[in-house]
Amino acid sequence: MKGEKRPDRVLQALPTTPGLRADAPLLEAYLAFREAAATSFTVPGHKGRSSMLDAGLAAAVAGDVPLYGGVDTVKLTGGYLAQAERLAACWYGADWCRFSTGGSTHANQSMCLSLGRPGDKVVVTRSLHRSVLLGLVLADLEPCWLPPSLDPRTHLPLGVAVADVEHALEQHPEAVAVMLTEPSYLGTLSDLEAIVEVAHRFGVPVVVDQAWGAHFGAHPGVPRHALARGADAMVTSVHKMLVGYSQASLVCARTERFDVGRLERGFEATHTTSPAGSVLASIDASRALLASRGEELLDGLLALVRGARERLRSEVSGLEVPDEHDFRPGGFDPTRLVLLLSGVGADGIALERRLVERGLPVELADRDTLVPVVSIADDSETVEALVCALVEVIRQGSGPPRELPVPMSWGIQPVSVVSPRQAYFAAHESVPADDAVGRISAELIAPYPPGIPVLAPGELVTAELLAGLRSVAATGVRIAYASDPSLTTLEVLTR
Ligand SMILES: Cc1ncc(COP(=O)(O)O)c(C=O)c1O
Repeated sequence: MKGEKRPDRVLQALPTTPGLRADAPLLEAYLAFREAAATSFTVPGHKGRSSMLDAGLAAAVAGDVPLYGGVDTVKLTGGYLAQAERLAACWYGADWCRFSTGGSTHANQSMCLSLGRPGDKVVVTRSLHRSVLLGLVLADLEPCWLPPSLDPRTHLPLGVAVADVEHALEQHPEAVAVMLTEPSYLGTLSDLEAIVEVAHRFGVPVVVDQAWGAHFGAHPGVPRHALARGADAMVTSVHKMLVGYSQASLVCARTERFDVGRLERGFEATHTTSPAGSVLASIDASRALLASRGEELLDGLLALVRGARERLRSEVSGLEVPDEHDFRPGGFDPTRLVLLLSGVGADGIALERRLVERGLPVELADRDTLVPVVSIADDSETVEALVCALVEVIRQGSGPPRELPVPMSWGIQPVSVVSPRQAYFAAHESVPADDAVGRISAELIAPYPPGIPVLAPGELVTAELLAGLRSVAATGVRIAYASDPSLTTLEVLTR
C-alpha cells in the first residue's frame, strides 16, 4: 500500500485565515457564521428559521450549520476544514487526518476500504466492533481472527497476545493488515508496540480502532495514543471520551504504508456529502481543548476516578474496581471506572435500572459488570452523586458472591465457513433457532453491551453459541442487530 504521490490533503503548510483563531479555525468559522446570520439559499431547508414553523423542531435543529454554504462557502474557499484537519494531524503526529460526521463507524469502514483488494485477508481481533465487521463486508476482506486473551482471575479481556499476531501472520503471510480494537470497552489494552514491531516485520500496517481512547496521549498518566505507539492508522470517537457532538469522529494515518489516494477515496466513498459543520467544529474545538488544557483536564479526571474507586472499594466490601496496577504497565486506561459485581452478588442490569430511575444512566451494564463513563466534563459534584448512588444501589442489590463466568463476548471461537461478504449477499432464510444449529449464519448478532459480534455472517451456528446467546438474553442483555432479538428464529444461508 505504499503511496507514490502525496496529494494536497497530506500535511503541508496551509495558510491560516486572518482573523480566525489559529488554534481552532473551524470552530471560529462556525461561530462567525452563526454571528453573521446570513439569509441562506443553500440547504439545510430549516435555514435557521424553523422557530417560525415549530418551536420543538427549532430546538432540535438549533446549532445546526452545514459545512458547505455555512461554516465555509459551497466551494470551500475558506479552507477551514482542511486547516483544522491539518492541526489535528500535527497533534497526533499523522500525515493525514479527516474529520467524520459518521462516527467511528464510518471512520472504521473507510479504513477497511483503504486496505487491499477484494478477497484479501486481514488479521483482525475478534473483539472488534460491528462497524469493522461490516467494513470487511463492504471491502470484501476476509478476516483471520485473533482471539482476545483473558485475565485468568477476572476474565477481563487483555487485548491480543503478540504471539497470536505473529502466529496469524505466519499462517497467513498474504494478509494485508492487522486491525485491532484498543482500548476495549473495559479500558484494557494490548502490548501495541510489540504487535506493531511484528506486523512491520511482516510488511503490513497496523490499524487501530481507538474509539474509546480519544483522550489518549494528552497526559503522562493515560496511555499514549495508537499512532504514538507505532500504529499506522487510528480511528477515534471524539464524542465518546472528549466533548464532541454525537457522531464526531476522526481518522488519521501515517503514510509510509498507505496510499493517501486510497485513504481519501475510502473516506469519501462512505461519508455524507452534506457534513454538519457543527459536528466538525466540535472536533476541532475538542482537539484544541486537548492541546491547550488536556493535561490539566486529565489531571482532574484521573483524580476524580481514583477517588471514586477508593470510596467504592472501601464502602462496598467485595466490590472489585480494577485500576492500572492490576494490569501490565500501559495495559489499562486509568480513567475507566469498571465495577466487577460477582463478588457482591449484585445484578448489573437491575442496578442500571435503579440508576436510571435516579437520573444517572450508565454506559455499560450486564449482569457482572457496570461501567459508568466519567469524563473531562465531570466534576466532584457529578462524581459524588454517582458514587453515593452506586454505594446505595449496590448495597441494596447485593447477594451471595457468584462464580465469574467467561463473558460470551470475550470467549468467542468462531468457525468461519464462507467470507462475511459472500454470506451477507447469499440467499438466506429464516428458520427456528434450534434448526439453525449446523447451518451458516446470514446475520450478525451482538449482545449489547459490549456490542461485539458473537456471530458473524458466514459463521457456523453451534449449539453452544445458541445456548450462550440465550443465557445472556435471559440476564436482560439486549441481543442487538439480530433479525429476531427473541432468538426464536435465525437467518441462515439457504442450502
Ligand atoms: C470499539 C468501537 N469502535 C467503533 C464504535 C463506533 O463508534 P461510533 O458510535 O462513533 O460510530 C464503537 C461504538 O461504541 C466502539 O465501541
